[in-house]
Amino acid sequence: MNMAADRKQCPAKDIVTTLVAAEDEGNLSSGEFGFFVLMLAVAGNETTRNAITHGMHAFLTHPGKRERPRTAAEEIIRWATPVNAFQRTATQDTELGGKQIRKGDRVGLFYSSANHDPEVFDHPDLFDITRDPDPHLGFGGGGPHYCLGKSLAVLEIDLIFDALADAMPEIKPVGDPRRLRSAWINGVKELPVIVG
Ligand code: HEM
Repeated sequence: MNMAADRKQCPAKDIVTTLVAAEDEGNLSSGEFGFFVLMLAVAGNETTRNAITHGMHAFLTHPGKRERPRTAAEEIIRWATPVNAFQRTATQDTELGGKQIRKGDRVGLFYSSANHDPEVFDHPDLFDITRDPDPHLGFGGGGPHYCLGKSLAVLEIDLIFDALADAMPEIKPVGDPRRLRSAWINGVKELPVIVG
């Protein structure tokens, strides 16, 4: 909210200025602005941060996989599935996997289950950065709520592993990851490593 007030006085070339303009045009209420920025901060942080840590853990525990093909970031997302599950409300009656879903039912979407489906992926528990195609649902299954930040997330993951390979080529694990206790976010609290 402070940033919004600041950008009203002093516009900049950033997303807050764009959103504040939408608010001024009557397209976004002040509350909606606040929640949208909050959503961007959480959706763009917990997810990529944990994907990168899982990716680092996977590279450290799968030696010989240092050459990264362009498919690597997508496989990191599939293997890690940073968002375990979301909930949706059915807008119409339907049938899925032989189950009746009625309009108004709350439905759990378990992305981690979909991303380890043996009918879709060969050896689903194998971290394989050459997997191609890799039709994972880590960013959702398409449709209007498909992840808004997908391209940014893939770019961030690619760039951070490029930067780490340049700056810290010798990273070794010195302990197991400490996992976040959450049914929602597949998170890592810490991953102890030594940089040689
Ligand atoms: C590895 C990184 C990420 C993962 C695994 C991820 C995962 C997801 C998933 C599963 C959804 C729901 C999709 C659906 O229901 O169809 C979603 C939606 C969304 N994501 Fe991401 N996300 C990531 C990165 C980001 C980033 C970097 C941003 C923004 C900076 C972002 C912004 C959003 C927003 C705004 C939505 C809601 C879209 C809507 O409801 O219209 N995400 N994401």
